[in-house]
Amino acid sequence: MSVMDLLEFEKQEMMPESYKERTTEELEQRVREIKQKFGRRLFIPGHHYQKDEVIQFADVTGDSLQLAQVAAANDDAEYIVFCGVHFMAETADMLTGEHQKVILPDMRAGCSMADMATITQTEKAWGKLTEVFGDTILPLTYVNSTAEIKAFVGKYGGATVTSSNAKKMVQWAFTQKERIFFLPDQHLGRNTAYDLGIPLEKMAVWDPIKETLEYNGENLNDIQVILWKGYCSVHEKFTVQNIEHIRKTEPEMKIIVHPECTREVVALSDDAGSTKYIIETIEKAEKGTKWAIGTEMNLVNRLIQQHPDKHIVSLNPYMCPCLTMNRIDLPHLVWALESIESGKPINQINVSSEVTELALLALNRMLERA
Ligand code: 13P
Ligand code: SF4
Repeated sequence: MSVMDLLEFEKQEMMPESYKERTTEELEQRVREIKQKFGRRLFIPGHHYQKDEVIQFADVTGDSLQLAQVAAANDDAEYIVFCGVHFMAETADMLTGEHQKVILPDMRAGCSMADMATITQTEKAWGKLTEVFGDTILPLTYVNSTAEIKAFVGKYGGATVTSSNAKKMVQWAFTQKERIFFLPDQHLGRNTAYDLGIPLEKMAVWDPIKETLEYNGENLNDIQVILWKGYCSVHEKFTVQNIEHIRKTEPEMKIIVHPECTREVVALSDDAGSTKYIIETIEKAEKGTKWAIGTEMNLVNRLIQQHPDKHIVSLNPYMCPCLTMNRIDLPHLVWALESIESGKPINQINVSSEVTELALLALNRMLERA
């Protein structure tokens, strides 16, 4: 979060304490009433990592790609109360019309990975990299990035990617330029490029703090993939030791992880894919099968509840949920909905028209191919 963002954040209204004093029954009743009252004028998308107390009221649940697609397709909801994190609400704002308001129930629901690439750092990196590599690089950004980063990528001919379509988008990128600059998640970038047959020796890492390119090879011209040194603090907590433990204690258990996990973890797992892919794999799995899942805990716990006929555990038994995703709780949802009901909607996400115009180039290049 930049200093400007912090100043903006300071100005944000905080939820009144009284919401925490209301009972769950009362809060749930209010959600039902307001949803009923507003009908199709109100739309609540919810990411798979949201808490059950919130997800039960979502009109649609999905991974990042699905939520971007439903936002783009929804033309009639006047209010979109986004149960997810800030970058997702920004994307929804950019993909919806002027007549639609996107609301994030708690403005503190950010994403530590998205905050690892600021526009100033990115422009500096681009300046240095294009000095070395000339006009041979196409920027790609994981949707887990700020609208400004998406605009930067759009401006230079690149696109956004999600964990569901990263392979397709990286393949497309190589039809455009010789090398890619992948922001901000080094792990998704590395795992995707590796799966497409690009050896690790042809990948370098850009360190935005030291402003240096980390590369062990001899010839810079061999570099095909430049990875931003960002990561998800939740998925980095799944380790090789976790996998070794499962292999030793539960040899017949299958391990499936999200591609935000490190290369080593993905390589040792049986399968990897987006949250949607993980859900579908578990749904299709035979009764009695055993699974260790490496992704966010709200989703893993939900899968455990929904599939009592399968034995499911978290790959890391000491895992915590994503703290920023967890900021959206029932009291904040009711606060957001009651603000709409009272005609004074709080926490509106408004991306500037200059940023939106460029970011849409990147988003649409992805949505056309998704
Ligand atoms: P997907 O929704 O693309 O699986 O991404 C997971 C994630 O970390 C969202 O923040
Ligand atoms: Fe960001 Fe990771 Fe949380 Fe997703 S799980 S919102 S990438 S910190």
